[in-house]
Amino acid sequence: MSTVLTVDGGRPLTGSIQVRGAKNFVSKAMVASLLGDTPSRLRNVPAIRDVSVVTGLLQLHGVDVSVGDEDGELLLDPANVEQAHVADIDAHAGASRIPVLFCGPLLHRLGEAHIPDLGGCRIGDRPINYHLDVLRQFGAVVEKRTQGIWISAPRPLRGTRLELPYPSVGATEQVLLTAVRAQGVTELRNAAIEPEIADLIAVLQKMGAVISVGTDRVIRIEGVDRLTGYTHRALPDRIEAASWACAALATGGDVHVVGAQQQPMLTFLNVFRKVGGAFDIDDDGIRFFHPGGRLNSIALETDVHPGFMTDWQQPLVVALTQASGLSIVHETVYENRFGFVEALQRMGATIQVYRECLGSAPCRFGSQDFRHSAVISGPTPLRGADIVVPDLRGGFSHLIAALAAEGTSRVHGIDIIDRGYEHFSAKLTALGADFSYEEAPVLTG
Ligand code: EPU
Repeated sequence: MSTVLTVDGGRPLTGSIQVRGAKNFVSKAMVASLLGDTPSRLRNVPAIRDVSVVTGLLQLHGVDVSVGDEDGELLLDPANVEQAHVADIDAHAGASRIPVLFCGPLLHRLGEAHIPDLGGCRIGDRPINYHLDVLRQFGAVVEKRTQGIWISAPRPLRGTRLELPYPSVGATEQVLLTAVRAQGVTELRNAAIEPEIADLIAVLQKMGAVISVGTDRVIRIEGVDRLTGYTHRALPDRIEAASWACAALATGGDVHVVGAQQQPMLTFLNVFRKVGGAFDIDDDGIRFFHPGGRLNSIALETDVHPGFMTDWQQPLVVALTQASGLSIVHETVYENRFGFVEALQRMGATIQVYRECLGSAPCRFGSQDFRHSAVISGPTPLRGADIVVPDLRGGFSHLIAALAAEGTSRVHGIDIIDRGYEHFSAKLTALGADFSYEEAPVLTG
């Protein structure tokens, strides 16, 4: 059985909701606590399934995780870090991509680590070759076994000069979490510089690390012998904020996203304005609204920071079905992130997906057989349909489409959304959505 959300759409979302710490930062800051020899305190932690998964993994490795006095506060005590049983780690396989980031800290603390088969959204192959190459360059030994991948550090890890083939977020975090306690200096070229990475660097600096971020994606880390715990308030989730902004635009609504910050969303805000959306920024957050009139089509390409995030692409595409004219979206981060448009087409959207690069940004997928460019022709009224949630962001986008569509939609597999959107049904209620839940047999997309 799977949980089905039945939505009666066609009404504007209006009201105020709050976003808390960024899913793609909080999980990494939790892993960083393994590197300290005193407890850490992380604030503004959202109640999402990814946090539960990382909590479970840390507990398996002997970290004491408890809830603090403040709402959304986690206390992480790594005093008794120990090797977890492989079978227990594997029980988390399929749940998250975070286990790969345990490697550096566990190699420093215990000399070995095990990576199960990784989960996360199916939006491309999502290999971990950069991670394994990076670990090897620090001196780790990587062995592929039937149960997964074993990594060991026969000798203390040593700082090194590295250059990533692509500014991968995860591989940059792998380098940071490993280099801070490696012997000597590490220089990383072609690093990712997302705001979530800047916040992880801030956490590591609080712990005692020495990290400088230069121009042109170069990060330099001087290894230290000892790190302590940290106290830190997580930066807000700019993906969730943008998702609600797109929901406001697609439904002709008005949503105040408390906690949203302008700075990490500059690129999104520019696009939102060009499409015809309006926003007001205040000390508490950002109010996103449809100012009336028609929306404009746009040509855009997803990219690493400071470009337009791939995770903003899917919710925006739903809003673009309501814009006048032809919009073009070239996805350059993941090769397979347009699977979700098939459901939108069934709901009445006119979207065509192409193998060619419809844009000029450097792209690794141009000469391959990946449908990674989309042309959206609008405006097209959407009508309710039965939809199966494919992945986290695609699923939220389906939800936006259901909210914007006339008639009733049944969104199957809605549980996936709990991975990254805190209390989303309470937020839908607060914004005046008309919906109910039921259990139904699993429907495949
Ligand atoms: N890549 C490789 N080899 C590697 C690592 C990455 O080829 O070893 C490729 C990927 O296949 C992809 C590209 O490099 O084509 C970028 O991947 P990246 O490593 O930057 O992504 P990630 O660290 O796995 C994080 C977020 C994603 C977000 C991306 C890009 C987390 C847990 N996930 O993934 O978030 O889309 O960065 O910003 O932080 C989401 O929240 O829904 C989500 C998918």
